[in-house]
Order: sequence, then C-alpha cells, then structure tokens
Amino acid sequence: MTEIIVEYRVGTAKVTITKDAEGSFQYIVREQEVEDVRKEIRKNIEVIIMGSEGSGNDMYSLVKTAIRLLKMRKKRKLPEANVAYAFRKELKYKKLQVLIDDPHVEDISIVGPGNVWVRHSYIVSRNPQADYIKTNIVLKDMFEFLEYMNLFAEKAGKLISRATPIIDANLPESDGGHRIHLVHPDIADGKGEIVIRKKKSSTLVRVKELVSNGMLTRDIVLLLQDIIMKRGSILIVGPPGSGKTTLLRAILYDLIPRDWKVAIIEDTPEIDPPQGSCWVRYVTPMYRITNGGSIEFDQMTLTKAALRSSVNRFIVIGETRGAEARVLVQAMNMGMGGLTTFHGGSAEEAIMRLTSPPINLTAQQVAMFNLIVTLNYVVENGLRRAVVAIDEPIYDKDEDSVVLNNIYEYGENATYDILLSRLQKISGVNLSKSAVNLYAKVNKARR
Ligand SMILES: Nc1ncnc2c1ncn2[C@@H]1O[C@H](COP(=O)(O)OP(=O)(O)O)[C@@H](O)[C@H]1O
Ligand SMILES: [Mg+2]
Repeated sequence: MTEIIVEYRVGTAKVTITKDAEGSFQYIVREQEVEDVRKEIRKNIEVIIMGSEGSGNDMYSLVKTAIRLLKMRKKRKLPEANVAYAFRKELKYKKLQVLIDDPHVEDISIVGPGNVWVRHSYIVSRNPQADYIKTNIVLKDMFEFLEYMNLFAEKAGKLISRATPIIDANLPESDGGHRIHLVHPDIADGKGEIVIRKKKSSTLVRVKELVSNGMLTRDIVLLLQDIIMKRGSILIVGPPGSGKTTLLRAILYDLIPRDWKVAIIEDTPEIDPPQGSCWVRYVTPMYRITNGGSIEFDQMTLTKAALRSSVNRFIVIGETRGAEARVLVQAMNMGMGGLTTFHGGSAEEAIMRLTSPPINLTAQQVAMFNLIVTLNYVVENGLRRAVVAIDEPIYDKDEDSVVLNNIYEYGENATYDILLSRLQKISGVNLSKSAVNLYAKVNKARR
C-alpha cells in the first residue's frame, strides 16, 4: 500500500511525497497542464525559428512570440498563472524548474537518462537514514540528458566537453546561485552526472516575514525580544533544515539593538554582521592553524577569545556542536546574552545530548538558558516550518536534573502577557510596553 506522506504546492505544481510498502519514498510532481503549455510553446519556438532563418532573436522574445502565437490559436482561454509558469520554465530550467523552486529540495542528482533524484529536507529530518528519493521527473534518453547538461553548463557560463569533462560552477545569483557539478559521460561510465547542490536562500531573514509565513506568532516575537533585552539567552533546537539558522538570523537582525557589541562565532559563515554595525564575526579557518603547534582555532578557542574581549555584550554561536557550549555558558554566567542553535528533534533530546559526552554540560549549566525554542516541520495547509514549542529549562536541585517548564505549545493562541506570566526564572517585570515599542521602532527603521 502506498501512503501519502505530505502534499503541497510549488508555484502551479502539486507535489506529493509517498511511501510504498517497501518503505521507499517517492517525490511526485503533478503539473500536466503547465507542461502541456510549455510543450506547445516549444513547438511554436521551433516554427518561429524555422520561419525566420536563424534570426537574431534572443530566447526571451522568442518565447514571448511563441506564447502570443499559442494564445491566438487556442480557443479555450489558458489560465494566466499556467502561461506565466510555463514561460518561466521554458526560459530557465524546464522540467527541473519545480525542483529548483521547491524550498524543501536540498540537492538534485541525475545520473544518465532516467529518473531524477532529490534530497528532501522534510524526509531527511524525519528519517535520518533516508537520503535521496526518486522523483517522477524522467529524462527519457541520452539526447535529453545531454540537453540538460548543456543547459546547466551554459547557465553557469561554462562549456562542458571532452576537453573539460568536469565542471564545478555556480548558477547565476538571479537563479538562486546554486552550485552545479557536471561530469561528462565519457568519464562517467557512459552515463554522465548532473548534481545541483542548492544554496540555502538567505533572503528570508526578517522577523516580520517569518511571522507572516507562520513560523512564529507576534506574541512569541515579543517574548523573545523581552529575553534579549534582559540579556538572557536562547537555544534554538530543531532537525536539519527546520529553519534554526533562519530564525537565529532574524532574531539577530531585528531584535538585538545595533549598538550592542555582538560577537558571532561560526564554523561555516552563514550570518553576516549587518553593514555599519560594530559586530564582529569569527569564523574557524578551513585549514588547520595552530599556534606554536598547540592551539587549534576551533569554535571553542574563538568563543574563548570573544569572551576575553570584555566589550562584547552578546555572544552568538551559529551552530553549537561541541565543547564551545561550555564557554557560552561561562559567558552567560558573566552576564552576557547568548544565542545559538543546536541539532535535535526536541528540547528533551537537546538536553540529553548537551549533558552527555563530548559536551558534558551539567544540569545547572543547561538551566542557564532562559528559553529553548524548538522548531520543526508542520503539515498543515502544505508543508511549513514552525516553532512547535518553547520551554524554560529549570534546575531541579533535589534531582540534580533539568525540568522543562512549557511556555508555548504549537497551535495555541497565547498572548504575550500570558507567555510572560508562565516564565519562572525571569521575574514578571512587565516590559511589555517597552518591548512593543522597540519592536515597532526597529521594524519602522528597517522598512
Ligand atoms: N519560515 C520559513 N519559510 C520558508 N523557508 C524557510 C523558513 N525557514 C527556513 N527556510 C528555508 O529553509 C532552508 C533551511 O533553513 P535553515 O535555517 O538553514 O535550517 P537549519 O539551520 O535548521 O538547518 C533555508 O533555505 C531557508 O531559507
Ligand atoms: Mg543551520
């Protein structure tokens, strides 16, 4: 029996992910109407090219003329949205456009003719053992495969040939700036390979946008603002791709005053300090640098350096993986605010891992965080990412363990005042007015 795992829309296309009896997932795109329109556009383009004897027309005007022709001939009116998407597909990545546009598709892999495979963030987040899943998009023969290989090379401004059989390049920024890896069939077992590693989009960074697309409520924003203004600390937890870095960035840019001195520590640079701010960012070097052969510049060393620089008021670790967590806790102890993300399916799981090797935080140290914000995928009107829980870790002296005080649960409509009243550690000093004003001010200034 085939089970439907999730369904959502990408542009005019409908995407369904299914799981069959053997446990294999499949990514199914349904966009017959748009594809039909695109095929007709294609046909017309050929007619136009034949008719004008290799005219100097650029692709854009060719497609436009082809659509005009198509509309003239059609009796039935074509839905404008379908025509628009077909237009875009024809100009850009054709059959693969949906995969390029789907924010849940992380990588696309094509090996010779046949089905196209993808790595899907939702499936990977729920099934750590799942990797690539098959799509119903098929490149039917070698001819079509080579057409796509050349298309990607061309879009990246390269030429793939026997002389340059391997290409690593980027698509134009306007197409998402994704990384492409092409291997000519000559050196790939006669099949050839096309891999598109999608660049995570970094445009969606405003708190306001995250509120309007349902990741969190405005009242949660006010609560987070409150904690930040009191120089508290927040731990963002979630599976890969659930939006941890996105939320962290939004909090940083929209909720932290620009005149606070902030130090950002990262392994892979994802969080640019805003222009004109006095924030500093340390990134661990790709190669091994040692200081006289002893110190390695990992996140831990960099966090220690940020801690020594007493001017910092707020320390951000892009993604906590190891012992740097202990330094962050030390910073919190010294009265600095802290913000970081941590991989995990729930607050409980995160606490388990934070208190086990190699991180080994004590229960008391974990309880220094003011809030644990848990993100995950939610299936509701499609597939979204959302704050599914907010908890306050409390130290239980008798048990020497951490107890979670639940502040917010997904789906409830709690106001800021209610959320605030549930906090046990930060006294209920009513900051609501100043927090509301600041949020309004910050947003106005950025608009
Ligand atoms: N609320 C959201 N709405 C739409 N796209 C989102 C949202 N949050 C994150 N994304 C996108 O999902 C991808 C993964 O997000 P990221 O923050 O890097 O996840 P994580 O840090 O949890 O691995 C990015 O491409 C990002 O732009
Ligand atoms: Mg991340």
